Amino acid sequence: MINFELYNPTKLVFGKGQIEKLPTLIPSNAKILLAYGGGSIFKNGVHEQVRKSLEGYNIVEFGGIEANPHFETLMKAVAIIREQKIDFILAVGGGSVIDGVKFISAAVPFEGDPIDILKKRIIFKEGATVIPFGTVLTLPATGSEMNSGSVITIATTQEKLDFGGSAMFPKFSICDPTVIASLPKRQLQNGVVDAYTHVMEQYLTYMHEGYLQDRISESILQTLIQIGPDVVENPTDYALASNFMWSCTMALNGLIQKGVPSDWATHMIGHELTALYGIDHARTLAIIGPNLYKIMFETKKEKLAQYGKRVFNLAGTEEEIALAAIEKTIAFFHTMGMKTLLSENAENIDKTADFIVDRFEKRGWKALGEKQNITLEKVKEIVLTSY
Ligand code: NZQ
Ligand code: ZN
Repeated sequence: MINFELYNPTKLVFGKGQIEKLPTLIPSNAKILLAYGGGSIFKNGVHEQVRKSLEGYNIVEFGGIEANPHFETLMKAVAIIREQKIDFILAVGGGSVIDGVKFISAAVPFEGDPIDILKKRIIFKEGATVIPFGTVLTLPATGSEMNSGSVITIATTQEKLDFGGSAMFPKFSICDPTVIASLPKRQLQNGVVDAYTHVMEQYLTYMHEGYLQDRISESILQTLIQIGPDVVENPTDYALASNFMWSCTMALNGLIQKGVPSDWATHMIGHELTALYGIDHARTLAIIGPNLYKIMFETKKEKLAQYGKRVFNLAGTEEEIALAAIEKTIAFFHTMGMKTLLSENAENIDKTADFIVDRFEKRGWKALGEKQNITLEKVKEIVLTSY
């Protein structure tokens, strides 16, 4: 097993009615920026619950953080915090609001141009000066509530870039599974597929000695397969909702990646599809993931066979199982409402592969994946296969 350090300081407060605990989590003298998205929190009562629980606090609200949060929007919040001497941020929303708040938290005290946080992919290590923040999660998917990563879009240049570091963990996250009742079906589907692909990025690599990590990954995948189709139809079922939310958090809170290799090329390519065409994050993963497994088959086939046997109970030769496992994955994504071809999700796609390869080349991303063998030629093949 590869040496590792595990650090995750986020206090996770999980379950029904937990929003009430906000006053135990935020210092009473804090001046809070309450950050949210396009307004779903007003329709489903989450805003009211948060405000009620924080009665007596000094709160400034900042709304309008869009899905795939824009640098340009977030900089408006940075200005407000600097002007009004705010010292705590509360993100109330999905991955976009939480990621946006991570950026705001880092950008407020940043000396220099905050766009460099993204362009230079600055790492904020433990002890770095950032504004403390907590979250109230409203959409299980990204794991952002318990990890230290963030993905931000620079709208003017259509770039989607990530940053993070151990200073970027939320102080706490309140995960109340009942909040998913108001999610549109499409977002529930997205959440399942995003979490599923997070596990795949950290699991579907090559054979290694992280036996426990593999078993944990496989059980998250199996749980998502078990509950995914049902939670989309019955989001008010608490057993389904709670397992869904916990699986999404566990898929990307750092645990399963410890001591093992990881890939992440599906995400890197997928982010470009969102930046170019506005396709939902999870849907880009459903387009790219299975094609990446096909093109990188020789590298991944042993692990694909293990995945096929353990997750789908497939039988046959190693090669047959590995191939069938890819088909099973695509079938599961279809069950979850995904359209797995790029042409089914966007128009005028002819130049996509060349555009992405050109961008990666300019960024120096010439060798991706767990073996650094996803070259620009392979990236092109993966994208072309997804047309
Ligand atoms: O903006 P509001 O009005 O709140 O509506 C949102 C938004 O339209 C809505 N929504 C959220 N909770 C709701 C709700 N609607 C009704 N009821 C609720 N309870 O859902 C829509 C999508 O929200 P968004 O936050 O964009 O979705 P998600 O959580 O999937 O986040 C996607 C973003 O996270 C990034 C993605 O790239 C994308 O930008 N990721 C972040 C990661 C991380 N930090 O670790 C990893 C991921 O791989 C991902 O890249
Ligand atoms: Zn993702």
